[in-house]
Amino acid sequence: MSEALATPSPELFDKVVNLCKRRGFVFPSAEIYGGFRSTYDYGPVGVLLLRNVKDAWWRSMVQLRRDIVGLDAAILSPPAVWEASGHLKNFTDPLVDCKVCRERFRLDKLDDPEVCPNCHSTHSFTEARHFNLMFKTYAGPVEGAGAEVYLRPETAQGMFTNFKNVLETSRKRPPFGIAQIGKSFRNEITPGNFVFRTREFEQMEMEYFVPPAEGPRWYEYWCDARMQWYLDLGMPAQLLRLRAHDEDELSHYSAGTSDVEFLFPWGWDELEGIANRTDYDLTQHASHSGENLAYFDQATGERYVPHVIEPAAGATRTAMAFLMAAYDEEEVAREGQGQGDVRTVLRLHPRIAPYKVAVLPLSKKPELSAPATEVLEALQPHFMCDYDETQAIGRRYRRQDELGTPFCVTVDFDTLQDRAVTVRDRDSMAQDRVAIDELLDHLRDRLGL
Ligand code: GAP
Repeated sequence: MSEALATPSPELFDKVVNLCKRRGFVFPSAEIYGGFRSTYDYGPVGVLLLRNVKDAWWRSMVQLRRDIVGLDAAILSPPAVWEASGHLKNFTDPLVDCKVCRERFRLDKLDDPEVCPNCHSTHSFTEARHFNLMFKTYAGPVEGAGAEVYLRPETAQGMFTNFKNVLETSRKRPPFGIAQIGKSFRNEITPGNFVFRTREFEQMEMEYFVPPAEGPRWYEYWCDARMQWYLDLGMPAQLLRLRAHDEDELSHYSAGTSDVEFLFPWGWDELEGIANRTDYDLTQHASHSGENLAYFDQATGERYVPHVIEPAAGATRTAMAFLMAAYDEEEVAREGQGQGDVRTVLRLHPRIAPYKVAVLPLSKKPELSAPATEVLEALQPHFMCDYDETQAIGRRYRRQDELGTPFCVTVDFDTLQDRAVTVRDRDSMAQDRVAIDELLDHLRDRLGL
């Protein structure tokens, strides 16, 4: 984010939402039917961005570690799971209706609990009702009692219900973790702020099982490690903070929770929660299922129910934060012309950027297509590339800047003589001439991936 935009503003929000639609990051779901406010679809570049966020998380949480394994558990699950986890009883938000305009609100999110933010009536709210956020559906052809199933409202429970399976098959012992990325569903009362709060979203969660005495130490460890992940991917430190929950915010089972917060255009808000969940989840599932979920440590002869440290992040929400942090506008001379121009650029970290490289033949002339295709095909096995041969080159550079593509490779008529191309850097706009035979190594070095 540029100095000028270092304090996020409502304009930044509108600019990013607009860019998302215009460039194919995010579309409102079912738009041709008037839209469906609470879900969004990820377009051709949005799907790459989101996948890169999830891959970066998986890389740091699973690939680069020896103590964490992955899981992909089912989304549909029987009531017994949610009975044990406490979600059937407690996963509720306080809901109020305005008796004047009939709008619904989440009581705990109102600026003033006495004033309707829609019609500004005072004392017009109904008594708060506890509204369960889980989506219920029916398994099999007969709807009704006994056939209810739930769409998971978090990925976490699949990792607890598979604790024993993973322990027995993965040759891991505490401290070890199970990581999962996937869709979760919550019937949010007030979805909003674009993809920040939606009814269908993706989470990246990891349950780290530790000997009870080691809980506090691993909680600190994961708070630090998770903050560092965002910083390593280029999030400016001034837009991030770690906020420890006050006593009255803590869930009854939590021995400590901290949120990684991002400075969104509307203020600080949550990207991820890191919680010391103690032995609550395994104990609950053990008593409801009748399975023994204690761990027997053969080295010490000790038997214990592991404590769990859980870093729980939102993939879709985090992708949005990366976009907000990367958005920049700067006044530049128009490339090739010299007039003043405002350039919009997403200064995304190369690992997060949808395309790493764009191959741009200077013109559509057939003699440039062959070397441009050769360059594209040499790079495609290594990086996600875009290829674009229409419009003036300056406009194509601007388009790639708005997609956050770190490098453009231009194939021009000199290429036919010198077998070299121009590599243009997104951030500095500097251009270097590079031999085609050295291009892959050159880009690999500069991308640092
Ligand atoms: N297992 C713990 C758990 O699910 P959470 O704080 O409710 O914790 C974790 O969710 C993360 O999931 C949040 O920090 C947020 O990034 C994301 N998340 C939760 N609800 C969301 C929603 N309705 N839309 C988008 N992301 C959401």
